[in-house]
Amino acid sequence: MTGRVEGKVAFITGAARGQGRSHAITLAREGADIIAVDLCAQIGTVPYPMATPEDLAQTVKEVEAAGRRIVATVADVRDYDALKEALDDGVAQLGRLDIVSANAGITSYGRAEDLAEQTWRDVIDVDLTGVWHAVKAAIPHLRAGGRGGSIIVTSSDLGLKAAANQAHYVAASHGVIGLMRTLALELAADFIRVNALAPTAVDTPMVMNSATYRLLRPDLENPTADDLAGPATALNALPIPWVEPVDISNAVLWLASDESRYVTGSRCRSTRGGSSSDRLDAEPWRPGPAGSAPACGGCEQAQSAGALDSLAAAVLAELRVEVVHVGLDGVR
Ligand SMILES: NC(=O)c1ccc[n+]([C@@H]2O[C@H](COP(=O)([O-])OP(=O)(O)OC[C@H]3O[C@@H](n4cnc5c(N)ncnc54)[C@H](O)[C@@H]3O)[C@@H](O)[C@H]2O)c1
Repeated sequence: MTGRVEGKVAFITGAARGQGRSHAITLAREGADIIAVDLCAQIGTVPYPMATPEDLAQTVKEVEAAGRRIVATVADVRDYDALKEALDDGVAQLGRLDIVSANAGITSYGRAEDLAEQTWRDVIDVDLTGVWHAVKAAIPHLRAGGRGGSIIVTSSDLGLKAAANQAHYVAASHGVIGLMRTLALELAADFIRVNALAPTAVDTPMVMNSATYRLLRPDLENPTADDLAGPATALNALPIPWVEPVDISNAVLWLASDESRYVTGSRCRSTRGGSSSDRLDAEPWRPGPAGSAPACGGCEQAQSAGALDSLAAAVLAELRVEVVHVGLDGVR
């Protein structure tokens, strides 16, 4: 049976683990070869362990087990020349480029006035400039192919709303949305589509770590992933705490495939609803009364099952509107 991206080649940054690895395996299972890049090293301001060379080797193993080729390189998305060299080498070996997943990212926490210069700079450099670098390196290859292409940039639901304690991440994520919209305009004539993912919390080491547990449960001395479930659910429209990497990969697969051939300039949200303001703040989460949806300090959404229903409907309506926006009108 022919895969949904059969014979295509995908460039994925941050491919050593988490969502990036899942995107690589999902696209490989549907027939794509992979050009994978990851830093595989720690960044000093990041408060959780980052990926290792062993993680990247595991991605290679799993893509090959799916029967596809992979060219994997250790490179830093902050270093344009190194990233371009890794991509150029991958295209030389695999023969073409069709899909870009600019997925590498980091986070850290702190009130805006307390963030150290380096902490701010690292998040902006990786999460915003790194996405631009990946796309900039890829555009000449996509154009040279003459077949169009699909660029999928990873933002966050914090690219669509505010969150206390993450000013740098919110700013970078909003920046990625603006970059995507501009690229969608600039590349449409070449049939290169550009769309953004705006996921809610995803079950990866970026979120499943003690720094996040402590941020969301400052009321507990040693919070665990189980303690995160309540406040994480309160942030979502659908009554679940987080999604799995494969849920985001399924969106990547659709945006990468010809099934979305006229979709450009869209923001693909997952799960989270609501419209506003302070999320991920240090207000202790409080369980709601029995039978009600979870409540969250400082959070106006999801106070009742009825509110959840209408919120979910609003999210679905928004998703529909965003996804059917096709062409230039949708991105202006
Ligand atoms: N996990 C979530 O809840 C969540 C929610 C919304 C958006 N996101 C975004 O999804 C993307 C993937 O994150 P994840 O959840 O898989 O986290 P993750 O930490 O498991 O994976 C991120 C990967 O990016 C790599 N990376 C980081 N800096 C890099 C650099 N400078 N150069 C190259 N590679 C680098 C890391 O080594 C790691 O392998 C990120 O952009 C993140 O901001 C995550």
